[in-house]
Amino acid sequence: MSLAPRRLVYVLNGPNLNLLGKRQPHIYGSETLADVEASCRTLAGELGLEIRFHQSNREYEIVDWIHEARETAGGIVINPAAFTHTSVAILDALNTFEAPVIEVHISNVHKREAFRHHSYVSLRADGVIAGLGTQGYGLALRRVAQLIADQGSAVAGSS
Ligand code: DQA
Repeated sequence: MSLAPRRLVYVLNGPNLNLLGKRQPHIYGSETLADVEASCRTLAGELGLEIRFHQSNREYEIVDWIHEARETAGGIVINPAAFTHTSVAILDALNTFEAPVIEVHISNVHKREAFRHHSYVSLRADGVIAGLGTQGYGLALRRVAQLIADQGSAVAGSS
């Protein structure tokens, strides 16, 4: 098996994010999820990454995409939305994934209701971005690209 780091990154989005742009724009802004996907694709191209961008309102679909990523991906950027605060299943799935995981929240969850202050996903995430709006996705992709590059240099250095 090749030791070259994988350049495919999964960008996963949880429930209600399909309504981004229409849903509580004072909190989540006016960009749609399609806008976020388009800017992630442009940036991924610049960073030499390939992305699979998905959204679901169903917990099991997110778990299944994480299982898929286990076999193929070099990183995961995930906005688990409300599942952040409830899902042991998503945490368990992420714990089976061995490459970098960055958790993104568009809003600053720490400034909001107390139930949003706890994240199951943060128990696994290598980094968390909250409150930077949809810009957080791009920053998360940049971080994953950096971690993949660091891993590549470590592999090259050890051979
Ligand atoms: C969110 C924050 C969550 O608390 C909320 O349930 C969401 C979106 C965010 O991106 O700010 O749906 O993850």
